[in-house]
Amino acid sequence: MQKYYYIYTYGCQMNVHESEKIAGMLEDRGYIRTDEVEKADIIVFNTCCIRESAEQKIMGNIGAVKPIKKVKKDLIVAVCGCMSQQADMASILRKKFPFIDIVFGANNVEFFGEYLDEFLKQKKFCNKVIQDKNYMESATKMHFVRDNSLYAYVNIMYGCNNFCTYCIVPYVRGREISRAPKTIYREVKNLIDMGYKVITLLGQNVNSYGRDGSTGGVTFPKLLDNIANLQGDFELRFMTSHPKDLSDELIEVMAKNPKISKTLHLPVQAGSNKILKAMNRSYDRESYLNLIRKIKEAMPDITLSTDIIVGFPGETEEDYLLTEQLVKEVQYHNAFIFMYSRRRGTIADKLENQVPISIKRERIHRLLAIEHEISTKLFEKMIGSTQRVLIDGENNLFYLAKAQCGKVVKIAKSTVTKLNIGKFIDCEITDYKNGNLIGRTK
Ligand code: SAH
Ligand code: SF4
Ligand code: F3S
Repeated sequence: MQKYYYIYTYGCQMNVHESEKIAGMLEDRGYIRTDEVEKADIIVFNTCCIRESAEQKIMGNIGAVKPIKKVKKDLIVAVCGCMSQQADMASILRKKFPFIDIVFGANNVEFFGEYLDEFLKQKKFCNKVIQDKNYMESATKMHFVRDNSLYAYVNIMYGCNNFCTYCIVPYVRGREISRAPKTIYREVKNLIDMGYKVITLLGQNVNSYGRDGSTGGVTFPKLLDNIANLQGDFELRFMTSHPKDLSDELIEVMAKNPKISKTLHLPVQAGSNKILKAMNRSYDRESYLNLIRKIKEAMPDITLSTDIIVGFPGETEEDYLLTEQLVKEVQYHNAFIFMYSRRRGTIADKLENQVPISIKRERIHRLLAIEHEISTKLFEKMIGSTQRVLIDGENNLFYLAKAQCGKVVKIAKSTVTKLNIGKFIDCEITDYKNGNLIGRTK
């Protein structure tokens, strides 16, 4: 009898990519993907714990499996990822949801196939959360079932050494480990040969690639340059860059390589030096703005995006207003704005001057409105410009494409004869409507 799998993925691109590995291990064992959770023989929850809201949502979704498991006794339920990597979480989860069969953490995703085989043999609860990252280079030769045939993620490093005081990631993802350049080149080459068009290099802080001494002196700008020089018709992106160590060399490499998308995600988190210091971000407002100035000088067409936290402990109205001013000054095409969320075990969780939720809510609404206005104006400014876009889909009325910054561009079918999905084209932007750019071919 055919067996089906369903994966819930929460959190960042790391998790999205790790779910592609999990899908590979399941398909190697004969399972087929289904879009109907009720049809699944195995359900995997690949979890995130970056904010409390993420955890609450996941708990709710795991709870919703209980009635399915009641009627389908053989259903296997596995929980993995960052949330399960936290201390004691395996037992907390199991107590709350006794129907969970397998728990493992973000450190050992690559071994899920073995855990599943073990569970199928022994049919008893399998707790496989381990503290050390058990990363093996061979893991990157694994079979990925990628979500998309044009866009691909490639891990260049794992973990984070920064310990921003609000953040749980260094605790659940461990210390930085960089992959060997050779294996990265090989993987990217394969993807290009297979027809992938946009390659995104992934790491919590790509700028510190190689600092662990494991890459034979290859730094991030060097790695990026080498990949951009590979043969083929593709675009190269990367995330995330920590502003504290984004070098002039990186700006140079980006500016001179046409294959590197002119877009940069550069999380600022806050605009007040007092708050940046308390967050342990290791840069100040002035040096961040200086960096932005250098980037814009080198690449006038760059689109910038950022992450911001409002309501960090001790954030006063004055501190918040400094964030507002910074947002207005930088002019981000996109900003992900979050209310500070207390995370167990982090330094900021122990601070006494926590900001009330009502103030956090008020600040996030104000800032979202300001950013909405800025980004609308920036995208409207693109009208009349020519953008290189990738055609990546279609519906009855439109060909759908993505600009380098990831924004959807719609091209009316009535204005063109035929466009091929998977091709880059130059497109003139004619309008900006409902959050999408409208374009026509040149
Ligand atoms: N490594 C990336 C970010 C990963 S987490 C970087 O450093 O840029 C993505 C974003 O979640 C962060 O940039 C931050 O804005 C937000 N975030 C992290 N911890 C948070 C917390 N405790 N509360 C609210 N937002 C948080
Ligand atoms: Fe978290 Fe800071 Fe590391 Fe980003 S750099 S993952 S925000 S600790
Ligand atoms: Fe979440 Fe883990 Fe990513 S905590 S944001 S899934 S690294």
